[in-house]
Amino acid sequence: MYKVLQQTPSLKAELKKVCIKHPEKKRNAPASLFTTDKDVLLNDPEINVIVEVIDDADAAYEIVSAALQNEKDVVSASKKMIAEHLPQLLKLQQETGHSLLYESAACASIPVIRNLEEYYDNDLLHSIKAIVNGSTNFILTKMFEEGLDFKQALILAQQLGFAESNPKLDVEGYDAANKWTFLLTHAYGIVESPENILFNGIQNIQAGDAVVAKEKNHQIKLVAQAKKLQNGKVAAFVLPQFVKPDDHLAFVKNEYNGVVIESGFADKQFFYGKGAGSFPTASAVLSDISALRYQYKYEYKKLYHHKPHELSKDVYLKVYVSFDDLHFIPRERFEWLEEWHALEERKYLVGVISFEELQKDTWWKENNTSLILTPDPVIEDIELRKLRKKSLELAGLI
Ligand SMILES: NC(=O)c1ccc[n+]([C@@H]2O[C@H](COP(=O)([O-])OP(=O)(O)OC[C@H]3O[C@@H](n4cnc5c(N)ncnc54)[C@H](OP(=O)(O)O)[C@@H]3O)[C@@H](O)[C@H]2O)c1
Repeated sequence: MYKVLQQTPSLKAELKKVCIKHPEKKRNAPASLFTTDKDVLLNDPEINVIVEVIDDADAAYEIVSAALQNEKDVVSASKKMIAEHLPQLLKLQQETGHSLLYESAACASIPVIRNLEEYYDNDLLHSIKAIVNGSTNFILTKMFEEGLDFKQALILAQQLGFAESNPKLDVEGYDAANKWTFLLTHAYGIVESPENILFNGIQNIQAGDAVVAKEKNHQIKLVAQAKKLQNGKVAAFVLPQFVKPDDHLAFVKNEYNGVVIESGFADKQFFYGKGAGSFPTASAVLSDISALRYQYKYEYKKLYHHKPHELSKDVYLKVYVSFDDLHFIPRERFEWLEEWHALEERKYLVGVISFEELQKDTWWKENNTSLILTPDPVIEDIELRKLRKKSLELAGLI
């Protein structure tokens, strides 16, 4: 950040003080800039912007809320903190009138939040799907294109600075679900806590799944998605998915992120860019600092100016499930099965199951079971009823 600010004199932003945790660490900026006392910054009336980019979500919330209360604008990169405290942060922004910007927390260098706020500020957003976690995308790319095993790929991601200090956050999908929490607010005005979002990471994906993916000419990606349903509500989840070669997301490799937005008249638009790493992150932080010069604030238009959407559970998903032992698979909970491969070394099925079944239980994340969405996974309740009726007609039963 220090380097990026130095290289952008046009911004006319001066770095007055930097609060760090470990004073003994070697720094690439003058020692006089540093302190370990956050109050030195928070209580300095000359400081009008606090940039919070620390890796401790609890301390980050303390700093960000104190800064807003102390009449400062804030730029933050802490997605976990934002996702976990969104209602409080919305309230604080309204109460203090100060701005909290966090573009870098979503897809690092891709300006997705500001686009959702300003360009898609209407009610015409049909769907949004995205690769929002650079680290898992990097791992999947290295596993499936270069044959690295999961651990090797993870270590490489960490060495290159693409993974969080705690890899569980990335690998098990928490990071992507956190980002999806506040992207849903900007896309649809939905304010939900991350634990209410159906999600999983890539920890259970096996070499056998990659074989099946290749046979079907698909890739496997961790995809966050939200789709407006015919009932006006929104289905949203973050799960591994088979992606067809002509899908824009198939193009997104390594630490890159990609976002596909489908709206009323524009059809599909694709945003692509670096989703992790210090410079892409700093670039979005810089853009937020720059926006503060003209008092930019998120207006949360879908939340405050439109009727906010609700999340729906009234939906079915077509999924691929691979497993070691049939014992672990509650076949009776599927609406129907389309494929059943019990003789392969890695057994698998393809079937349709309700969203609620997945949300209320965790069998699909346990015992080495791997669940991957099919390319067009969402089946709405209305469609399901039609499909059922048709199959009964075909069977001569009605
Ligand atoms: N890395 C990315 O690609 C990326 C992308 C988007 C968003 N983010 C977000 O940005 C944040 C930082 O990530 P990072 O990868 O840059 O982490 P990092 O390299 O581990 O840096 C964290 C920094 O925070 C400081 N810090 C931690 N706790 C502190 C406290 N209580 N008070 C003051 N300073 C404290 C540390 O100080 P010391 O130097 O003294 O240890 C360190 O400089 C995280 O919220 C992450 O989710 C990261």
